[in-house]
Amino acid sequence: MEETKYNFDVVRWFTIMAVVYLVVGTLVGVYIASELAWPFLNFDIPYITFGRLRPLHTNAVIFAFGGCALFATSFYSVQRTGSTSLWSDKLAWFVFWGWNAIIVSAVITLPLGLTQAKEYAELEWPIDLAIAVVWLAWGFNFIMTIAKRKTSHIYVSNWFFMGMFVMITYLHVVNSLAIPVGLFKSYSLFSGVQDAMIQWWWGHNAVGFYLTAGFLGIMYYFVPKQANRPVFSYRLSVLHFWALMFGYVWLGAHHLQYTALPDWTGSLGAAVSLAMIIPSWGGAINGMMTLSGAWDKLRTDYILRFLIMSLAFYAMSTFEGPVMSSKTVNALSHYTDWTIGHVHSGALGWVAMVASGALYHLTEKLWNTRMYSAKLVNTHFWLATIGTVVYITAMWVSGIMQGLMWRDYDEFGTLTYTFAESVAAMHPYYVMRAIGGMIYWTGGAIMLFNVIMTVRQAVAQRGTAAAAAA
Ligand code: HEM
Ligand code: HEM
Repeated sequence: MEETKYNFDVVRWFTIMAVVYLVVGTLVGVYIASELAWPFLNFDIPYITFGRLRPLHTNAVIFAFGGCALFATSFYSVQRTGSTSLWSDKLAWFVFWGWNAIIVSAVITLPLGLTQAKEYAELEWPIDLAIAVVWLAWGFNFIMTIAKRKTSHIYVSNWFFMGMFVMITYLHVVNSLAIPVGLFKSYSLFSGVQDAMIQWWWGHNAVGFYLTAGFLGIMYYFVPKQANRPVFSYRLSVLHFWALMFGYVWLGAHHLQYTALPDWTGSLGAAVSLAMIIPSWGGAINGMMTLSGAWDKLRTDYILRFLIMSLAFYAMSTFEGPVMSSKTVNALSHYTDWTIGHVHSGALGWVAMVASGALYHLTEKLWNTRMYSAKLVNTHFWLATIGTVVYITAMWVSGIMQGLMWRDYDEFGTLTYTFAESVAAMHPYYVMRAIGGMIYWTGGAIMLFNVIMTVRQAVAQRGTAAAAAA
């Protein structure tokens, strides 16, 4: 009956594509990690060099995997929390095909070297326009669905998705302002230090509103659902929603400490970053405490393990981030692998884990069945956890070592180590990171297999039931 009431087909396809892109995006991650450990893997082929595949990796994991996970979960939860179908099924399909077309265009243009060279906003201007249209289509459909809801209030997960929509729209538009000089070439409207500031205002807010607010929206719907308990404190969720919305926009300058940017902007960025521990931990604690009185569920519910472990990583990375934004620590960590370790404790541990938990939940609900193999879900959980820990430990050690080697002077006041020596010292940790990534990727591949088998099993069962009824 549910199928006739809700528009779940498009959600099913977004769910499957999210898992596919997780596997593809992390595979590219493993490849570029291996290129850093064994540079011969560049094979002197321009299309697969580290410089071209790196943005392909970031775009694939953030926008292909992350985007499909966000669209699947938001289109699903907005219908369930509002007891209503989508405002427009057709517009939702437009978002599906449009987003996938954008992903294909990224896969073609980035290896060809067509890029605006702005981090997380590399795609050229025609694709930027397409992103704006598809993004607006999603947001409009989402808000119109909320408007036609049958419930009286708007559940908090929807607030987080709406916050992400509003903020990412204007960040994307302002950061992408450019003058085209050809179909695949444009120049940013901003220059010099203003360009850098706008870029990092976008850069950290892509983290704050897309990878954080959006995924908190996921957390607020799927943790209580999977735990079968109400959210610990609804008041806290609303409070930390507004604190995140007003706080995050001021952080960007912490990426530009000790640069041509006026000193006070870096200090402001650092001060607000420190303050952000409070709302971030508010969310993490709220999610975890939702389990109070039901912690035993973690012993048997493997999907719940993903969700709760993701909150632990969320708490960890949002403690680490503010620490790194202070000028003293940033003087050591900036330009080193420590930043990469921080990124991936958030990306692998928080973003990909909370999304994986939600995608498992969705698979069971959308196909009205249980996972093909609970053991494989558990195997995935451990591979993801171990892979993340191996990856980030390698980067912490290598990053701190890098920073210390670069600033070490001998008794004559000259640098103790050459840059090349620091690169050579990184090698074992780059190998370790590639291994950690491979472990993480294996978990994702197992998930894809498990999801495909679950869907096949559900479709076959439905076929048998229909035949029996006939
Ligand atoms: C198997 C898993 C993964 C591996 C092996 C991997 C590997 C890498 C490597 C080698 C880099 C380049 C580091 C450098 O320039 O020194 C990178 C960058 C990055 N990755 Fe991943 N990655 C993985 C998964 C993910 C996921 C799931 C996400 C996001 C959800 C992600 C987000 C990023 C971001 C944002 C950067 C750019 C970091 C920066 O500029 O500071 N990665 N990754
Ligand atoms: C309160 C929360 C957070 C604060 C204050 C914070 C702060 C920071 C700081 C200071 C840097 C290093 C800047 C530099 O030296 O260049 C950084 C880099 C980064 N962080 Fe965070 N972080 C937070 C949470 C997160 C989370 C949860 C994620 C992932 C989901 C994340 C993803 C990133 C990425 C991708 C970069 C690298 C950007 C680049 O250089 O390409 N951060 N963050």
